[in-house]
Amino acid sequence: MKLVDDFRLRFGKKELVPIIIGGMGVDISTAELALEAARLGGIGHISDAMVPTVSDRRFKTHYVKEKLRTYKYNVASADKSDVLFDLGRLAEATHNHVGRTMTAKRGDGLIFVNCMEKLTMNAPRDTLRVRLSAALDAGIDGITLSAGLHLGSFALIEDHPRFRDAKLGIIVSSLRALQLFLRKTARLNRLPDYVIVEGPLAGGHLGFGMDWANYDLRVITTEIQQYLTAEKLEIPVVPAGGIFTGSDAVSFLENGASAVQVATRFTAARECGLPADVQQEYLRASEADIQVNTISPTGYPMRMLKSSPSIGAGIRPNCEAYGYLLDGSGNCAYVTAYNREVALHPGAKKVVVMDKTCLCTHMRNFDCWTCGHYTYRLKDTTRRLADGRYQVLSAEHIFRDYQFSTDNKIALPD
Ligand SMILES: Cc1cc2nc3c(=O)[nH]c(=O)nc-3n(C[C@H](O)[C@H](O)[C@H](O)COP(=O)(O)O)c2cc1C
Repeated sequence: MKLVDDFRLRFGKKELVPIIIGGMGVDISTAELALEAARLGGIGHISDAMVPTVSDRRFKTHYVKEKLRTYKYNVASADKSDVLFDLGRLAEATHNHVGRTMTAKRGDGLIFVNCMEKLTMNAPRDTLRVRLSAALDAGIDGITLSAGLHLGSFALIEDHPRFRDAKLGIIVSSLRALQLFLRKTARLNRLPDYVIVEGPLAGGHLGFGMDWANYDLRVITTEIQQYLTAEKLEIPVVPAGGIFTGSDAVSFLENGASAVQVATRFTAARECGLPADVQQEYLRASEADIQVNTISPTGYPMRMLKSSPSIGAGIRPNCEAYGYLLDGSGNCAYVTAYNREVALHPGAKKVVVMDKTCLCTHMRNFDCWTCGHYTYRLKDTTRRLADGRYQVLSAEHIFRDYQFSTDNKIALPD
């Protein structure tokens, strides 16, 4: 019987344990978590989502306060088109986060950064170019392009000296999305180094509609593998979404996947950025406590715990401090929904907004409890303590369980 450890992910001469911990914004996949994956010979992701905020929290910088001070005059205005990021500061913040993570790296694995295109930051191309270039400048091993089609993203960094040496990959949820990406980037003569195929059971935003349950990761992965073989394109394929045990992973690896990307199991890790009480919410959750809804202003469905404080919160938009989802013309679907409710309830001290959420503020405060479909199985991966709480695990324990388990078994902690 095979183990994940019988397989290796190969990038040229480099061999890695074929386990990638996926990016989880905002700082849920922390540097500490990613560093453990790298130390153990796999790949870990940090995320550049809301990186000025993350830098403030980690390194005592003041980017958020500074931005708010600059745009304070606009807080009560419905028009957010003025609220732009300072690109120099954005580069600095990315440098802080990526650079310090890379300096701390030990072991044979790699650290990648997850860059979501949907973080349009009121100037989509300019801000994405800065995020990608600054991550490369700061020595990141690789960049995973996510949450978007990224048809122009390679071109944004084609002149960067590391464009052909850093590992660059993309997350897709369909063969069509991959074909579009390959067609659009063909002139650059630079294929992605890996393709992550994310199915409908993943956490975070989904690359599917509300009919997500009609799709199957195995079917999409096979379609993509067959296409790449037919086109004689040797790009490692990495399925993600609902791979909960080492045996799940082995079944993909035996069918030609080069590695697997996993995340949900690591939300129960000590190194994960979720606050301890929120982590217990994840560990306690049952299947009925999880939903896929459309409250994210990005327009993508998102999976989360139904008890997330972000649902229906109706807080005032915080774009002057954050503003990561402004679309380049100063619009965000939450700002529109909030203004609608304010107009409908003149004089109300507080409004309720059910259809959208202020994702920046709620992700920043760990109040949007996005999670994978199998979050309800987390309780089977650990022990219940005498006080009723669940034991939090080390990332190493979870990583090694994926690497060495067989028979769909999950090793409980000591
Ligand atoms: C809490 C959480 C947050 C996530 N945030 C992001 C994100 O910011 N960007 C992204 O591309 N994927 C995100 N994902 C998706 C993961 O990177 C990963 O591909 C997927 O969840 C793997 O499936 P699994 O969770 O069933 O193992 C998130 C997943 C979880 C569980």
